[in-house]
Amino acid sequence: MNAAVREARNDALEAWFVEQAIDYPWRDVGDPYLVLVSEVMLQQTQAPRVVPFFEAFIERFPNVESLAQAPLNEVLKLWSGLGYNSRAKRLRDAAVQVAKDGWPADLTDLPGVGPYTASALAAFAFGKQAAAVDTNLRRVLSRWVGEPLDGAALDHVAAELLGGDAALWNQAVMDLGAYVCVARSPRCGDCPVVDWCSGPDAYVAPRPQGRFEGSNRQARGAVLRALLDGRRTAGEIIAGDVVSADGVSSAIDQLVTEGLVIESAEGFALAE
Ligand code: ADE
Repeated sequence: MNAAVREARNDALEAWFVEQAIDYPWRDVGDPYLVLVSEVMLQQTQAPRVVPFFEAFIERFPNVESLAQAPLNEVLKLWSGLGYNSRAKRLRDAAVQVAKDGWPADLTDLPGVGPYTASALAAFAFGKQAAAVDTNLRRVLSRWVGEPLDGAALDHVAAELLGGDAALWNQAVMDLGAYVCVARSPRCGDCPVVDWCSGPDAYVAPRPQGRFEGSNRQARGAVLRALLDGRRTAGEIIAGDVVSADGVSSAIDQLVTEGLVIESAEGFALAE
């Protein structure tokens, strides 16, 4: 690894970021709780869509204690529309754990916190030198070094290329990946680090996500919305939505298994 190339590229990247950075409400907040909320929301949802959900959520649940005490249905109400609702339950459960025991030394001990979210939290909230390795970073770094990186090799290269201010560097790489070094049709003409890049071909795009219509994700969202509306039986849930009966019943089974939904004599309801 050529240190002079790394420094020149990081300098150009960070200068570009400082110039054009989007002022997302979770940036530079410092508070680990706010960073955790944002990173969990950002796990499967793009940043501009997350903004209004994040703002409403932290207004209602401004700190760990308020979220730890919240009934699940209130949390899900604020999550509704973001999708992947099991994230909301895990986030609430993480708040319960932090309210009781404090932040763990190994952040992946928290429900819903995998290696990516743990590294983002470490860098953004705890001032640690950690690279937040996600698919964006994978694509950007693969193109920089000119080979498709994955697994341990990706972690290794990320640690080696990480800039001296991990919080700044991670966000700069995220924005580069989101707006310039995009998967299809990357905008190399607008790229601040094109002089230190092998070009777009090293990155092999994964297959695009399947259709939303008719998907399990759609059925799960429909079930949770129905339960928030007060519908209680599978029949009532099916009646109000376009999702098929089979889709609804397998979504209910999953949600019960995951602990988001409980079954009682009166039918189904959101877990507390
Ligand atoms: N995606 C994941 N984390 C992010 C962040 N902090 N800012 C923008 N996009 C992100």
